[in-house]
Order: sequence, then structure tokens, then C-alpha cells
Amino acid sequence: MFAFTIIVASFLVLTVRARDVWVQVGHNTTDNTSAVFQPQRVTAELGDTVFFNFSLGNHTATQSTFSAPCVPAHDSDSTINGFNSMFRDAGNETAVTILSVPMLAQNVNQTMWFFDYNTCGQGGVGVINDNESSTATLAGFARNAIRLNGTDDATSTSSSASHTTTSAHPTTTDSSAANAADRALKLGSISALPLILLGLMI
Ligand SMILES: *[C@@H]1O[C@H](CO)[C@@H](O)[C@H](O)[C@H]1NC(C)=O
Ligand SMILES: *[C@@H]1O[C@H](CO)[C@@H](O)[C@H](O)[C@H]1NC(C)=O
Ligand SMILES: *[C@@H]1O[C@H](CO)[C@@H](O)[C@H](O)[C@H]1NC(C)=O
Ligand SMILES: *[C@@H]1O[C@H](CO)[C@@H](O)[C@H](O)[C@H]1NC(C)=O
Ligand SMILES: *[C@@H]1O[C@H](CO)[C@@H](O)[C@H](O)[C@H]1NC(C)=O
Ligand SMILES: *[C@@H]1O[C@H](CO)[C@@H](O)[C@H](O)[C@H]1NC(C)=O
Ligand SMILES: *[C@@H]1O[C@H](CO)[C@@H](O)[C@H](O)[C@H]1NC(C)=O
Ligand SMILES: *[C@@H]1O[C@H](CO)[C@@H](O)[C@H](O)[C@H]1NC(C)=O
Repeated sequence: MFAFTIIVASFLVLTVRARDVWVQVGHNTTDNTSAVFQPQRVTAELGDTVFFNFSLGNHTATQSTFSAPCVPAHDSDSTINGFNSMFRDAGNETAVTILSVPMLAQNVNQTMWFFDYNTCGQGGVGVINDNESSTATLAGFARNAIRLNGTDDATSTSSSASHTTTSAHPTTTDSSAANAADRALKLGSISALPLILLGLMI
């Protein structure tokens, strides 16, 4: 019976083809600020995980909305518990860290726009699962970011002032990111669930 359980387990693992989708954060910003996320546009399916690989400089990956590109999603729409890495200073590949954003049933069919606090006003933005038949395009999102935050970000003092005032909110969204990671673990164990039930029945 134990061997049978293992066979079933292997079968379930084989049928769940979770994919890792990587976004490199921080490279090429010296030449082109808007290239902070590489690639800028990714697609991911249910069970996949998007990984933000913070490797160069001091950046964030923060979910926002199409109409407010440089504002954390939860601040402009309280129904969205968006992901937020907070500031990650990776140095020059000396302190690489990773933020994982799992694709769950409740977010997989939603477009997830995101930005970097320090380059948003210069177009440092990206998107997970944009809707190709929608008028809300990545190019339009980047234009919104530059239009709404471009001049403010010209002086670092004004942008750091706005960071101070908003710093309380990302803390709450950060915990929701932790919740998302928690849910990912639960999602990850979905394949194990029928197995456990099976084990109980046997
Ligand atoms: C940065 O730009 C160079 C030259 O265009 C390119 O070869 C390299 O792949 C880019 N790096 C990333 C992380 O996209
Ligand atoms: C800067 O990067 C963005 C996003 O990768 C790209 O669309 C744009 O063409 C680049 N601009 C230049 C001057 O290379
Ligand atoms: C993450 O970034 C580091 C530093 O640039 C790089 O060495 C590593 O290969 C990256 N990981 C992935 C999976 O792309
Ligand atoms: C990262 O950038 C933010 C905002 O510009 C700043 O407040 C913070 O001190 C920076 N972190 C480091 C380690 O330089
Ligand atoms: C990072 O370090 C490499 C060599 O290790 C150097 O060529 C590159 O210019 C550095 N990049 C930055 C942004 O300092
Ligand atoms: C996402 O949308 C696709 C196509 O409309 C649908 O088949 C699928 O069931 C949806 N997934 C979830 C988790 O809602
Ligand atoms: C963009 O501008 C809005 C409105 O002024 C502000 O609330 C937000 O903090 C700014 N975002 C960034 C990343 O500076
Ligand atoms: C994509 O956009 C089109 C046009 O606005 C809309 O009809 C469709 O429902 C959208 N699809 C999703 C999955 O949101």
C-alpha cells in the first residue's frame, strides 16, 4: 500500500508542471532606467511562481494598478492585497535576494502591474499576465508612470519624503505578500492533499 501511495504521488507530481518565471531586477539601469525589470512583461499560469531576482542596486517590486502605476495597489484599491518586496539593496550582486509571487486561483486571471519605487517615474515598471486584447498596455502603463510621477522623482528629496509618509502601508502589504507566500505553500501541497486523503482511506 505504501508503494502504491508513492506511485500515486509520483503521478501527481508529474501532472503538476509548475513553472518558475524569473524577472531580473536592477540590471542595465545605468544605461536605461526603464530597463530595471528584465523582462518587463511575463506570463504565468496557475501553479507557476514569478521570482523577482534583486541583483543590482536598491529597488522594489511593488504591485500597483494601471491608473496609479507608482502607488502600492492596496493604497489605491483596498480590495487588492498586492505584493511588495520593500527596498532590497543588492549592491553589485553582493546581496542577491528573491521575492516570489505565486500564481493562485484568485490572482492568476488578473493582470498584475508592478513598479520600482526608485525608478517608477522614469518608467521602471512591468506586468504579469497583461490582457492582450485590452487597451491597458504595458506601454500605456509606463507612460502613466512617467506622466504622474516623472517630475516628482526629479528631486530625490521629494521622493524620499513621500516614501517616509507611505512607509506604514507597505509594511501591511508586505505581510500580505507573506500571506501570499503562505498560500503558495498551501497551493504547493495541493498535489499532496489527495495523497493524504488516499492514505486515510487506505
Ligand atoms: C543588459 O543589456 C545588455 C546589452 O543590451 C544585454 O546583453 C544583457 O542581457 C542585459 N541584461 C539583462 C539582465 O537583461
Ligand atoms: C529602455 O528600456 C525599455 C524597456 O526595456 C525599452 O523599451 C526602451 O527601448 C529602452 N530605451 C533605450 C534607449 O534603449
Ligand atoms: C539571479 O541573479 C544573480 C545575480 O545576477 C545571478 O547570478 C543568478 O543567476 C540569477 N538567478 C536566476 C535564476 O536568474
Ligand atoms: C533605498 O532607497 C530608499 C529610497 O530612495 C532609501 O530610503 C533607502 O535608504 C535606500 N536603501 C539603501 C540601503 O540605500
Ligand atoms: C559591477 O561589478 C562589475 C565587475 O564585477 C563591473 O564591471 C560593473 O561595472 C559593476 N556595476 C556597477 C553598476 O557598479
Ligand atoms: C482563468 O481563465 C481561463 C480562461 O478563461 C479559465 O479556463 C480558467 O479556469 C481560469 N482560472 C481560474 C483559476 O479562474
Ligand atoms: C507617485 O505619485 C503619487 C502621487 O503624488 C505618490 O503618492 C506616490 O508616492 C509616488 N510614487 C513614487 C514611487 O514616488
Ligand atoms: C481582456 O480585455 C478584453 C477587452 O477589454 C475583455 O473583453 C476581456 O474580458 C479581458 N479578458 C480578461 C481575462 O480579463
